[in-house]
Amino acid sequence: MADLIRVGESSVSASVTRIGLGTWKIANNSDSGITALRHGFKLGINIVDTAEMYGNEELVGRAIKGFDNVFVATKVSPSHFRHDDLINACNASLKRLGVKSVWLYQLHWPNNRVPIRETMKAMEELLDEGKIMNIGVSNFSVKELLKAQESLEHSKIVSNQVEYSIAMREPESELLEFCNKESIALIAYSPLARGAILKDRKLLDELSGIGAKYSKTPVAVALRYLLQKGNVIAIPKASSIEHVEEDFAAMSWELSKEDMERLNSLDGFSRPPLAGKLLKAFLKNTTIWAKLMEKNEKNRKGNHQ
Ligand SMILES: NC(=O)c1ccc[n+]([C@@H]2O[C@H](COP(=O)([O-])OP(=O)(O)OC[C@H]3O[C@@H](n4cnc5c(N)ncnc54)[C@H](OP(=O)(O)O)[C@@H]3O)[C@@H](O)[C@H]2O)c1
Repeated sequence: MADLIRVGESSVSASVTRIGLGTWKIANNSDSGITALRHGFKLGINIVDTAEMYGNEELVGRAIKGFDNVFVATKVSPSHFRHDDLINACNASLKRLGVKSVWLYQLHWPNNRVPIRETMKAMEELLDEGKIMNIGVSNFSVKELLKAQESLEHSKIVSNQVEYSIAMREPESELLEFCNKESIALIAYSPLARGAILKDRKLLDELSGIGAKYSKTPVAVALRYLLQKGNVIAIPKASSIEHVEEDFAAMSWELSKEDMERLNSLDGFSRPPLAGKLLKAFLKNTTIWAKLMEKNEKNRKGNHQ
């Protein structure tokens, strides 16, 4: 039996496996990607994460066919945070996924150009219509999360998806404690530091040494470490059956207190700076969102003429 965590607003809460399946960079037409995802579902993993920005919601829609109990999490891009844009973006995601309702709908990144109240009003309308079952956010600080929560009239933010791995522990400074206290799921993205944990010799030696005691691989130890930090779900992306199996093996066992302490004490690991830092800088540049929003506005006006 896999580790489960209860996530969601009371009437629609679900028991979700603490290892989910990430899909960023799995191409929309990837047969091996579908095979890997479906293998994960067969093993018992029941949450899959995508985003309109990933361009692979159709693939996820195809992968979930025939699996009744898989919870789909997708994300709306910050360029669609205006009320009407958000409603349209959700409808388009549902169509691509081939579902009537998505279990978790997440704001992909904060966008200061749009009042959060307007965005959350649209999110609650989708909730009321049954098109989404839960509201989540991603890349939000505690302060941003609180402001977003205050903007909701009758619902609760159930999750915040942020970068978190043994090599990148920023959430431990504040966010993790907040999420644990408020029963908000912290969905850890890039939980393998985009593969970098296997390239850092010092870290790999530590993980291998600890893993040997439990007959577990370094990857399973690195993921297990996150799961034992509280309300955490880790969503590694794996494009092969072997990798999915290894990631799945992070569940249903326990690292001892001593081994957790040993892992806590490790520090200063390298991880790929490029994708992370550049992408973050790019995404936090709200001028880009403003330009994309202007384009949406023009398209809308064009369509109404
Ligand atoms: N909300 C956001 O802003 C945001 C940002 C980034 C990512 N995400 C989400 O988080 C998911 C995971 O993050 P990520 O894709 O950036 O990085 P990740 O999961 O930390 O790392 C993925 C890399 O690890 C490799 N891998 C997976 N399992 C492995 C195993 N057992 N042994 C060896 N290597 C293994 C994968 O290789 P293979 O592909 O060859 O299996 C891939 O190269 C994404 O797919 C996406 O759903 C969200």
